[in-house]
Amino acid sequence: MKYNLSEITAVIKDRRTIFPEMFSDRKVHREQVETILNNAIWAPTHGLTQPWSFTVFREEGLQKLSDFLSDTYIKLTPPEAFSEMKLNKLKSRPLMAGAIIAVSLKRDSKSKISELEEIEAIACAIQNMYLTCTAWGLGAFWSTPGLIYKPEMNEFLKLNPEDKCLALFYIGYPKPDLEWPKSHRRPIEYFTTWVEKI
Ligand SMILES: Cc1cc2nc3c(=O)[nH]c(=O)nc-3n(C[C@H](O)[C@H](O)[C@H](O)COP(=O)(O)O)c2cc1C
Repeated sequence: MKYNLSEITAVIKDRRTIFPEMFSDRKVHREQVETILNNAIWAPTHGLTQPWSFTVFREEGLQKLSDFLSDTYIKLTPPEAFSEMKLNKLKSRPLMAGAIIAVSLKRDSKSKISELEEIEAIACAIQNMYLTCTAWGLGAFWSTPGLIYKPEMNEFLKLNPEDKCLALFYIGYPKPDLEWPKSHRRPIEYFTTWVEKI
């Protein structure tokens, strides 16, 4: 065994979505975010395209994101779909985070690699971020409110029209009294076909 597999398995299984309401106000340092991003970029990418871009919101930047999300929700939501609860979440949650990383696909329209594969690579990068947070005892939450896919989001993040924001990745230390959530998965038999004979 090259690495401690039981420890790696423990980190994978212990990774949980920790919602911002469960974060304490303990500071997340810029150097921690750098470590998380330095692990993100070791995800596999077809053709080594490395098709990501990261926008990190910290400190007053979190207020800027909160204002953008709430103002844009108000602007884009027709009255019949408007939810006061959604608006409150978009406004309040960024202010509960130690940092938020907007993870986006930078699309090269001339690329031979399909957009699907580029998106898959970004999902791998986000999993690296998640596992790094878990190892650190940091909570994390992959959030995808509908408006991250709107042109207004691209403009806000200074992305080109063909790019796509794929995640708002919230990071924060859990509250000291938080009982780390448990989860379960169906056994592999449910999903797996073995082909071992002609
Ligand atoms: C692509 C993707 C998008 C997600 N977006 C949201 C979201 O917008 N809101 C949310 O509450 N959870 C979101 N999640 C988190 C899932 O709800 C969560 O991973 C799932 O419930 C399993 O819980 P666990 O992460 O603790 O194992 C997202 C997860 C993925 C992979």
